[in-house]
Amino acid sequence: MEERDIPDITLHDRRFRLLVANDRIIDSIERLASRMNSEYGDGSKGIPLFVVVLKGAFMFAAELMQRIDFPCEVAFVRLSSYKGTSSTGCVNEVMGLGEEIAGRHVIIVEDIVDTGETIAAFTGRLASLNPAGIEVATLLLKPYVCRKDIFVRYAAMEAAEGFIVGFGLDYDELGRNLKHLYVLADERTER
Ligand code: IMP
Ligand code: MG
Repeated sequence: MEERDIPDITLHDRRFRLLVANDRIIDSIERLASRMNSEYGDGSKGIPLFVVVLKGAFMFAAELMQRIDFPCEVAFVRLSSYKGTSSTGCVNEVMGLGEEIAGRHVIIVEDIVDTGETIAAFTGRLASLNPAGIEVATLLLKPYVCRKDIFVRYAAMEAAEGFIVGFGLDYDELGRNLKHLYVLADERTER
């Protein structure tokens, strides 16, 4: 289907329009995977552990992991963040990490990094477990992240402002199953 033929969708009470069609999402994940394959392929970082942040990163992780060609392990955590009005951001581990990570290279797999608070808090917690290194891989990186003291080495795509759903991302739990990415239609957004 041509991009212009992909219709708007409604989730709960809001309308969303196409942002990135599935084939372009997959292309960006392929490019990211080749970068990771060339940077981890020599085995100097041992057997890295991918830590997938549920629920949002499940679809990105599935596509990414199929294209990783060095030996690796995969683990899952589920985080919930309570931002409120505080600037520090508190991240609660709803489903924690069982794996031993001391001395290992860890790659956190996220759906979207927006303010960076979730990743900053989770990275801090992982760092206290003494891994050999921590990198962040995200499907989408919002520009606002520059304001946070974190470094995202692997971003498949950069996103403009606007609330995004689909390909794992939800609006109040709806939309995770959608194969394309959509953006809230009634806010000013760039493509
Ligand atoms: P941060 O802590 O501001 O970086 O937000 C990260 C988390 O908020 C992501 O892992 C998502 O779960 C959620 N989030 C942020 N922006 C969006 C969005 O545009 N759509 C859906 N979820 C989002
Ligand atoms: Mg998330």
